[in-house]
Amino acid sequence: MTKVPEPGTLLNIDRIRHELNQTMFGGHIHAFNQVSSTNDVAKQLAKQGAPEGTLVVAEQQTRGRGRYSRKWSSPPFVGLWFSFVLRPKVHGENVGLVALLSSVAVAELLCESTAQVTLKWPNDVLVQGRKVCGVLGETDFHGARLSHVVLGIGLNVNQTADMFLPHLADRVISLRMAKGEIIDREQLLMNLLVRIEELYSDFSAGRFDKIVGAWKARCGQLYQQVQVREGECRHIGHIVSIDDYGRLVLRLAGGQLLTTHSTDLVPFGGEQSPSRE
Ligand code: BTN
Repeated sequence: MTKVPEPGTLLNIDRIRHELNQTMFGGHIHAFNQVSSTNDVAKQLAKQGAPEGTLVVAEQQTRGRGRYSRKWSSPPFVGLWFSFVLRPKVHGENVGLVALLSSVAVAELLCESTAQVTLKWPNDVLVQGRKVCGVLGETDFHGARLSHVVLGIGLNVNQTADMFLPHLADRVISLRMAKGEIIDREQLLMNLLVRIEELYSDFSAGRFDKIVGAWKARCGQLYQQVQVREGECRHIGHIVSIDDYGRLVLRLAGGQLLTTHSTDLVPFGGEQSPSRE
């Protein structure tokens, strides 16, 4: 049986490099003890021409960030903080689905060993209703042509409850807290990258329905009534799906469908829709 490394142990990047050498992520791994943000490093490498699959992993981030430039706490030894470069050959509009496929990959993998794993729009992964993982996607276009996407994943793995800020206590969780055991971060990272590559090859082959289906199967908000804000407009509807462009699909009261990229969304009323897609 493989011994699970104690928390406080550095990720063994040589092992990761060796075991992933046949995969798209094995060939270009940049590992750091500390960086400001793995997304920033990966973006810089991508701009310098780094190939698809370039992976940046850090033990610790000093300026880890989430969506809306929120701070992402990234202490050493206890989490997985990594980013990778993709160069999808698809229309720019489909690129929204790429960030979603990463959270789907995380959710599917966690589900194999953890109870109560759900997805929350746009790409949070929750365990027991608390956030365990976030994805930050950043795109770069040359004119109308998509140049690259950098996806950054932050996964809370071995934190104990006291390592989170008190005001977040009931909203965040680590896998260790959920499962009551220390998790092997290296194995988790490798399994995750393999799963991401599988879903990414579905994406690249245009099998968007597989990603949409997997997202719907894991979404904890499906058929919930929500209010979505798009600029000055507010819409109330039930979440029924995502589309091939990675947009949220709502069924409005009149029955018509609304697709939106908006992430400004709150529960509304709490009723369940009787009709399912
Ligand atoms: C979110 O939920 O708002 C997204 C959080 C993304 C955090 C990860 S950690 C690795 C990568 N580097 C960053 O600075 N952010 C992402």
